[in-house]
Amino acid sequence: MRKRVYITRTVPEVALELLKAHQIDYTVWTEKRHQTEEELIPVMKDYDGIIVSGPLQVSRQFLESCPDLRIVSMMSVGYDNVDIEAAKELGIAVGNTPGVLSGATADTAFLLLLAVSRKAFHMHKEIIRGNWKFWDPTANLGLELKGKTLGIVGLGRIGFELAQRCAGAYGMKIIYHNRGVNEEAEKELGAVRVSFDELLQQSDVVSVHTALTPETEGMFNKEVFSKMKPTAIFINTARGGVHNEPDLIAALQNGTIWGAGLDVTNPEPMAADNPLLNMPNVAVLPHIGSATIDTRNAMAAIAAKNVIRTFEGKTLEHAVVE
Ligand code: DGY
Repeated sequence: MRKRVYITRTVPEVALELLKAHQIDYTVWTEKRHQTEEELIPVMKDYDGIIVSGPLQVSRQFLESCPDLRIVSMMSVGYDNVDIEAAKELGIAVGNTPGVLSGATADTAFLLLLAVSRKAFHMHKEIIRGNWKFWDPTANLGLELKGKTLGIVGLGRIGFELAQRCAGAYGMKIIYHNRGVNEEAEKELGAVRVSFDELLQQSDVVSVHTALTPETEGMFNKEVFSKMKPTAIFINTARGGVHNEPDLIAALQNGTIWGAGLDVTNPEPMAADNPLLNMPNVAVLPHIGSATIDTRNAMAAIAAKNVIRTFEGKTLEHAVVE
């Protein structure tokens, strides 16, 4: 019997072509509305695999309710929304798409950093509001990045690519806080591994690249922001849950830190009246880290190949659980 895959969002055509070429049937949820776990559970009884794009909670209950499910194929590097222990116990494979999105996500972090340091998003809004009336040499002043210190929290592939950009373009000194040593970063970029507190105290820019886990949830809170320099910029392109939003807002309002660039928020989507959107030193993007044509095609292809390989009894291209 032909295998069937449920796809939670419209994904690049390349994924569908690959599934078709392997005689796998699929259903794509095309509505621009998030389907909840409860809604999907009754549907999933007819499917052998699921390609997940978006924040679907793949809980133990979800996994236990899908009798034929063999693979949860994440079209993302992050899998914080999947109950990995339950998948292991139930013998359900979980795949993800690391590597191919590192450059695009690092570009987004770099874009946010430049935008915050020069208040670019705010300036753009000011022009639209009709407030560009006079060129004032003492107004609109930003910060320069040359020779400053970049602190990376969680130095994996994305953090490494950001560090390369910052060291190459601005000669920034790279320090990092990570469970293990990143030899490549130390050798190629002269990166120095430091404690979390040292990183907070020394960095002019703190950029977060950790996964969202119980240990990292809310880790950037009032106490942590208070250890950063008042001139520091905070960048988060990882997961919104890693920072405590009320504490971040307060830290920006009372000058504990200088600015913030966020590609991820908590919740997502962010409400249009969120105070962060009206702060001059804040730049917010709608979770577009990996949103380039090339990267999304590459992610879709891996997500489909992970499904195909599972059905063929082969090892996944990128496995979290297999
Ligand atoms: C990822 O790959 O985890 C991105 O954040 C998209 O969800």
